[in-house]
Amino acid sequence: MTMNQVRILLSALLLLAGLTLTAQELSIGRGRFQKGDNPAWNTFSFDDNAWQEVTFHQPWEELGLESANGIGWYRIHVVIPSSLKKGTVDAIMLDLGAIDDSDQTWVNGHLAGKDGTFPEEPGGYSSEYGKRRYYVVDPRWVNWDRDNVIAIRVYNYGDPGGLYRGDVKIVKPSLKDFAKLSLVAGDSGYQAVLTTSVKTTGTLQITVSDVMTGNLEKSETRNVRLSAWKEKQFFCPLAPQKRLKVRYSDPRFPEVLEAEVCAPYILTPPAPATPRYNGPLVFGVRPGSPVVFRLAFSGEKPMKYAVEGLPEGVVLDEDKGVLSGSCLKEGDYPLVVKATNEKGSAHAAFTLKVGTQIGLTPPMGWNSWNCWALSVSQEKVMASAAALINKGLADYGYSYINIDDAWEGEERTPEGYIQANEKFPDMKALGDWLHSNGLKFGIYSSPGDYTCGGYLGSLDHEKQDAEVWNSWGVDYLKYDWCGYSKVFEAGRDKSEAAYIRPYLKMQQFLREQPRDIFYSLCQYGWGKVWEWGAFVDANSWRTSHDIVDTWESLYVTGFERQPGLHPYAGPGHWNDPDMLIVGKVGWSSSLRDSRLTPDEQYTHISLWSLLAANMLIGCDIAQIDEFTFNLLCNNEVNAVNQDILGHQAHQDVVEDGMQIWSRDLYDGGHAVGIFNLNEASVPVQLDGALEKIGLKADTVRDLWRQKDIPTDAIYVIPPHGVLYVRVK
Ligand code: GLA
Repeated sequence: MTMNQVRILLSALLLLAGLTLTAQELSIGRGRFQKGDNPAWNTFSFDDNAWQEVTFHQPWEELGLESANGIGWYRIHVVIPSSLKKGTVDAIMLDLGAIDDSDQTWVNGHLAGKDGTFPEEPGGYSSEYGKRRYYVVDPRWVNWDRDNVIAIRVYNYGDPGGLYRGDVKIVKPSLKDFAKLSLVAGDSGYQAVLTTSVKTTGTLQITVSDVMTGNLEKSETRNVRLSAWKEKQFFCPLAPQKRLKVRYSDPRFPEVLEAEVCAPYILTPPAPATPRYNGPLVFGVRPGSPVVFRLAFSGEKPMKYAVEGLPEGVVLDEDKGVLSGSCLKEGDYPLVVKATNEKGSAHAAFTLKVGTQIGLTPPMGWNSWNCWALSVSQEKVMASAAALINKGLADYGYSYINIDDAWEGEERTPEGYIQANEKFPDMKALGDWLHSNGLKFGIYSSPGDYTCGGYLGSLDHEKQDAEVWNSWGVDYLKYDWCGYSKVFEAGRDKSEAAYIRPYLKMQQFLREQPRDIFYSLCQYGWGKVWEWGAFVDANSWRTSHDIVDTWESLYVTGFERQPGLHPYAGPGHWNDPDMLIVGKVGWSSSLRDSRLTPDEQYTHISLWSLLAANMLIGCDIAQIDEFTFNLLCNNEVNAVNQDILGHQAHQDVVEDGMQIWSRDLYDGGHAVGIFNLNEASVPVQLDGALEKIGLKADTVRDLWRQKDIPTDAIYVIPPHGVLYVRVK
């Protein structure tokens, strides 16, 4: 046989075994699967002949298993050719794709990597379902050119589960696959931490520059030698307003490892002690529905409030600034809202629109999911609600307090009514307390039999659930598709009508209630929801999958999924790119600071402001820090989000990693965000950038700094950062 024939024969054999080999990687399409758990299943010698043959393209629910949740194992038998380690470092890497939810992975009985945690681990289960698994494998564990066993133990919570994102791959690693450079905060600066699973020799460069000017202030280089499975730390001081950057290179590889941090820097000027109105300029309520509205004035407390022009039936609590009551007569009521404190007074024009439409500006408030997820409780909700008032966020228009999943009891009443679980002892009292403070009450459910978190959904109880929520005083419903997938999959109809049906049904019962319930659809943008969301009278609809606090997630959600959706947003109906990921988040009972850099957080809030997005804070407000407050409570940035024209921004320019988004405002001005999505700072000539979108001005308003700046100047936009301006 010639070499070519050998190659062809080898390829044919590999293909039969579900494998594809190239010079760079080996793809594996199939393996064996078994539900259950046994420590012996990670060994090379275990006999898995009786296990089910599966592909890595289907979640395990589709493999005919009775129960989707719990532990299951995959075992892959594979001959790993030594050709894969030639011409690069002496190691290989597994690329398993994303796994639902957590995994532990062994190669011939050696633990190669793990992500997420299992219920038996200290701290319990936590999911990493969106994260792609790359595990570098020590070459000493590999049986080169012979049979190997890759064993993957998976824990799944909520469908879908397992390995279903495509082929498992064995690839040649690059520098970034086996070495990691990170900056870890310490007492008076940072430690640059370099870890590696393969021996490396190279140089580490450390630079410090000024956050505002971008000027380089210090640069030094260190030589590094590190053996396999070792870690080295380098201390790097970091002063306020400075940006620290570290770069590691190993001459064997073209790519460079980089990490950078800047100390959180505050741009929003402090609010004056005198009253200042920061709220929306309109509020919509249906005739006869309770008015729940808190006047949003910053400034020293206590304050006295007054309103001129209130229609009959609507009353003001002068000490709290809370409007309540109801108005039967349709019409636009022009009001003047006023606040007075020891330092002075202020007033603003405001319109109460009694008519058919609610949600005239995007909802601003809080939701429990991104912080507490399934560990939410009434106590935690109350803590954030109280902090919303005490820490002054309610003075900027944040007014919804929304409980996400995990409030539902295990069983309905014998008559079929939904009840809260023991973590929520008194929903009605919670609703009453919120309303007495002018805050609005939000709840969560699913059109399916179960929610994403495995709690009771509203299927076949829609009317009863709407009635219960009304009795608690609910003002907002997030209605999350989740368990409805089963109904959808079982039906033959896969048309747009099938997506619309469950949402239309609930909408009918919500509208029967004697109060306004903001209707928030959550089905991740399926079936082009933006095209029919307004038809089911939804006030907002999620346009993308769940966001998490990483740049990758923010980038995909904000910059990839939102372009083109602007025609569908407007007063009463908004595109919802998901909740905010600033402050202390964690999707569990233990919270951490958002993993976004300060620049990324400015980008996040600027983009959401431009997108006229729902502004639902996702962090524990009781623990809010000064930097996060500065992000959420910039009245000029929020005013764009709440602009009464309701024109969502469009993506105008995409060029060299830069993007310009702009929207027009009711006063004839424009809000413009110039985003730098590159990994390095980029200087931008402002007038040139504005010219690209047909705008011209000598000065513009820098919205974060709240000051006018000349346009004939160069502004350095940090990596993943933004320059956010208003053009008059
Ligand atoms: C889905 C939604 C999230 C959250 C969870 C609750 O994943 O997209 O926002 O509501 O369900 O289980």
